[in-house]
Amino acid sequence: MPRSPVGREIDRVDGRLKVTGAAEYSGDYRAPERAADLAHAHLVTSTIARGTITRIDTAAALASPGVLRVYAAPEPIERLALYGVTGQAAGFTEPYIPLQTAAVHFYGQAIAMVVAETPEQARDAAALVTATYAAEPPRTSIADEPHVPAGPTISGSPSSLNILAPGVESIDAALAASDVVVEAEFHQNVQHHVGMEPHAVLAVWEEPDRVTIYAGAQIPAAYALGMAQRLGLLPQNVRLITKYVGGGFGARVVLWSDTPLAAAAARELGRPVRLVLTREQMFTLTGHRSHLTQTVRLGASRRGVLNAVSHRSLAERPSTMSFTMTPAHSTSDALYSTPNLHVDAQLAVLDIPGSRAMRGPNEAPGSFALETAMDELAIATGVDPVALRLRNYATTSPSSGLPWSSKHLDECYRVGAERFGWSTRSATPRARVDGQWLYGTGMATAIYPAARRTGFAARVQLRNDDTAVVSTATSDLGTGATTMVAISGADALGIPLARVTPEIGDTYLPPGAPAVGSSGTHATVPLVVDAARNVIAELKRLAVTRDGSPWQGAAAEDLRYERGILHGGGRSMTFGRLLTAIGSRGVDMESSPGGDPIPGVIHHSFGAHFCEVRVNRFTGETRVTRFTTVADVGRVINAKAARSQLVGGVIFGIGHALLEENHLELRTGRLANSTLADYLVPVNADVPDIDVVMLDRPDPRLTGPLGDGSEDVGTGSLGARGLGEIGTVASAAAIGNAVYNATGIRVRDVPITPDKLIEHL
Ligand code: MOS
Repeated sequence: MPRSPVGREIDRVDGRLKVTGAAEYSGDYRAPERAADLAHAHLVTSTIARGTITRIDTAAALASPGVLRVYAAPEPIERLALYGVTGQAAGFTEPYIPLQTAAVHFYGQAIAMVVAETPEQARDAAALVTATYAAEPPRTSIADEPHVPAGPTISGSPSSLNILAPGVESIDAALAASDVVVEAEFHQNVQHHVGMEPHAVLAVWEEPDRVTIYAGAQIPAAYALGMAQRLGLLPQNVRLITKYVGGGFGARVVLWSDTPLAAAAARELGRPVRLVLTREQMFTLTGHRSHLTQTVRLGASRRGVLNAVSHRSLAERPSTMSFTMTPAHSTSDALYSTPNLHVDAQLAVLDIPGSRAMRGPNEAPGSFALETAMDELAIATGVDPVALRLRNYATTSPSSGLPWSSKHLDECYRVGAERFGWSTRSATPRARVDGQWLYGTGMATAIYPAARRTGFAARVQLRNDDTAVVSTATSDLGTGATTMVAISGADALGIPLARVTPEIGDTYLPPGAPAVGSSGTHATVPLVVDAARNVIAELKRLAVTRDGSPWQGAAAEDLRYERGILHGGGRSMTFGRLLTAIGSRGVDMESSPGGDPIPGVIHHSFGAHFCEVRVNRFTGETRVTRFTTVADVGRVINAKAARSQLVGGVIFGIGHALLEENHLELRTGRLANSTLADYLVPVNADVPDIDVVMLDRPDPRLTGPLGDGSEDVGTGSLGARGLGEIGTVASAAAIGNAVYNATGIRVRDVPITPDKLIEHL
C-alpha cells in the first residue's frame, strides 16, 4: 500500500536533471532542427532618463563581423511589427512598445538591438552603437514630485482606508486621545529581484503567423496572450515553453521588452533568435521594487492595547507603468485589532525603470514599518513584544470585519518563543556583550494573503501501464511546483509518486495557475484533485460500457476505486490492466470549472519570526546568528520544498535588512549600483542555520471544488495555503528589532549598514 507523499520530505522529481545540467532553461534551448540557423541578439540601452533620441549611429555596428541586422529606435513599425496590448494581458505587459518611438522614459531603456551570427559578435557590435539625445531633467525624487493617490490595489480594493470608532472624528483625534503614541518614518531604496537565471528568450517561428517562445514566465497564459497581441497574432498561435525558471521573485510577472524584440527580429530575419540580457541590463529592463517612504503612527493604552493605527506610504510610479504599490494596505489593514484604522498609499510619477512586484511586494516593506513600530510600542509601554502582539490579536479582519478561514498565529508565537528561548531575553539594550560583539534579539509577525484563485485547470491522464500524467500550464520558478503537481496527483490517485509524471510550463497544456503571490500550490492542488475525481468517474464509465471489461453492463455506482485499483462484484483490476483490457492506451479528464471564493471568510497565511544578531562594537557590522520562523500555512504538501521556501524567504529578509539597495542618482536617473558586485545579496556566509517549523494545520475551508464527494479520491493534499512569501514578510523587521536590542540604536532606513550604526556605538 503506498503511503501518500503529502507532507513528507520529498526530493525534487526534477532534481537530478537540474544538478546534472540536463534541465533546459530558456537560454539553453537551441531548436535542434534549426540550430544552424540560430541568430543572437544583444540590446543597446539608453544613457539618459528622459528625453528624445535625436540620432542613433549604427554604421560601425553594421560593418562589424557577423552582424545581420541593427534595429534602432524609432524603428519603422513595418520592420518589427509590434503592437499595443489591451484588455486582460495589458496588466501584465510593459505599456510602451520597444524601439517604436524616439522617446526615452528611463535610464537603461532598450534603444537598439543588434542581431549577429554569434552572441559575441552581437555584443561587440552593440558596443559600437552610439546615440545622441535631446535630454530633459528627469523626475527622480518621490519627495519632491507631486503625490497622487495610488488607486485600487491588485485585488481591486481601495488602497486608502479610514475606519473610525463611533464618535471618533479622525485618526488624528484617535491618536491624540491615546495614552501612548509612537510615530516613526521609514525609508528604503530600490531593491531588485536578481534571480540566478538571466532573462533569456528563444523565438522560433514555425509558420509566418505561428511562433514558439522559450522564456521564463510566472504567468504563462498572460505572457503568451501579451505576446500574441504584441506580435499581431491569434492567441492560439503563440506557444510559450517555460519549463525551468531560475527564479521569479516578481521579475517574470511582466512581459518586458526583451521577448517581443527577440520574436520580432526572428520573424523579420526568418531565423530563430536568442536574446540573453546581461546582468546589468536586468537591473533596468526587468523591474525592481520601488523605493519607499512610510510613516506609521500607533496609539495605545498604557498596557499596549491599540486604539489607533495609521500607516501611510509613498512610492514611485514609473512614467511607463501603472503599478500600484500599497505596503500599508496589505499589512496594517489586516494584522492587529484596532478600533481606528487609517491606511493611505500615495505615488509620485518618476522617470525610472519599470517597478513591479518583488518578493512579498507590499507586505515585505509594509511589515518592516509596522513591525518595527510595534517594537517601539513594546518599548514605550514596557510590554514584552510577544505579549504585545497577543494583546492586540485580531480574530476578525480589522478592515473587513470578516473572520479568517483558519488562523493559528497565536500558536506560531508560542511555539517560536519556546524554541528560540525568548523568555531568557533582556528587554534592555546592550544587556549582552561578548568581547567586541553586542548580542540582541527581536521578533516580528508575518502575514500574507492566501485567497483562492480561480479560472484555471489541470488534466489527469491514466495510462494503460498504470502510470498517470498530470498536466497544467503553471511554471516552476525553482520553488518545486513540478514536484507539488506530482505529489498531489499521487495523493489524489493513491498511487506511488514514481508512477506520476508531472507536465507543466507549456501554454498548450490546460491553463495553469500563475506562479505569483504565493498561490501556485493552493490554486493547483484542488484542480489536480478534481481532475483525478473526474478521470476516475470516467474510468468507471468505461469499465461498465466497454467491450473487454469484466464489468461491462454493471452499474458504475457498484464500482469502487482505491489506490489505483478498481473493485466491484468480487473482482479487482488496476486501471492499467482495465485500460489494456478495453484496448485503450489512456483516459484523461480535466478539472471542472469552479472553486469560487468562499463567502464570509478571508484567507491569510501567518508566521512569527525570532532573530538573534550580534553587532560589532567597533565596526558596526551586523551578523545574524540565530533565526527561528514558525509558519501557519495550512496543509504542507512537500515538507522539504516548503522548508526551503521559508528559509529562502528569511534570507531575502537578511538582504532587505542588511544588504540590498540600489541608489538612484537624482541628477541622471541612473540606478547607480546595477551590478552584482555593487548590489549586495546575502551569501552563505551571511546566513546562519535557519530553524523553520510549519504548524501543518490544514485549512478546513480550502477544500477545493467538491466534485461528487466520492470517498475514492485522496484528499490529503487539500487545505494548503500559500507559503512562498511568508518567510520574507517581516523577517527584516525581526532583524532590525534585534539590532535595536543589541545596540539601543533604531535604524528606520534599511539596509542597516555599518555606517548607520557606527557613529552611535
Ligand atoms: Mo510575486 S513578487 O507575487 O511574483
